[in-house]
Amino acid sequence: MHKPYKAKDHFFKKAKSEGLRARSAFKIEEIAKRHSLFRKGQAVLDLGAAPGGFLQIISDAVGPAGTVVGVDLAAIRSFNRPSVKTAVLDVLAADFEAQLLTLYGGAYDCVVSDLAPKTTGIKSTDEARSLALAKVALNVARKRLKPGGSYVAKLFMGGDFEGFRNEVRTSFDDVKVVRPEATRGQSMEVYLVGLRLKAALPGSGASSSG
Ligand SMILES: C[S@@+](CC[C@H](N)C(=O)[O-])C[C@H]1O[C@@H](n2cnc3c(N)ncnc32)[C@H](O)[C@@H]1O
Repeated sequence: MHKPYKAKDHFFKKAKSEGLRARSAFKIEEIAKRHSLFRKGQAVLDLGAAPGGFLQIISDAVGPAGTVVGVDLAAIRSFNRPSVKTAVLDVLAADFEAQLLTLYGGAYDCVVSDLAPKTTGIKSTDEARSLALAKVALNVARKRLKPGGSYVAKLFMGGDFEGFRNEVRTSFDDVKVVRPEATRGQSMEVYLVGLRLKAALPGSGASSSG
């Protein structure tokens, strides 16, 4: 009994004892380990990055020669690491992609999205909003990833999950669904992992910079 709460306590305490900003850090750690996502010197974009749990894991993985860009509606407390750039941005804003380019003009090895809408409690609304955020991340991944790059996005199961998975399959060689151990027991969230972007799309600009 109370299994979800035991899991919550375990990862919450572990995050605190390891100096991590959020228990979600264990989710990206597990996904990255399972799919060998990050290497030293890589460039990674983290969408929905506050308070910075994912950023800690990713910046350690890519090291000081790498680049990690983290954006969120909420301000992210500074990491004091030159390799980590953060900004307050709304991924749904009309000028989002232009703003993102000003932070880092190069192509990314991986685009990660832990974007989550404020939940309303209305299942269909929450699922649709979650899907809309994962779609924004997919569009950015298609434009800004290097060929062979990878995409990780959280979304709520339900709604048009299958349709979206098929959409991701059109751009990546392989698509996995991961529910990390640190996910809360009742949560409907999973991560879609797109491995090896098939090719830069014409006009994407991803291969011409950085
Ligand atoms: C689960 S939290 C991310 C936790 C983060 N991965 C970490 O490890 O610390 C989801 C984030 O998505 C952000 N978010 C939701 N909608 C957004 C939007 N339109 N633009 C930017 N960020 C958004 C929220 O502000 C929230 O910080």
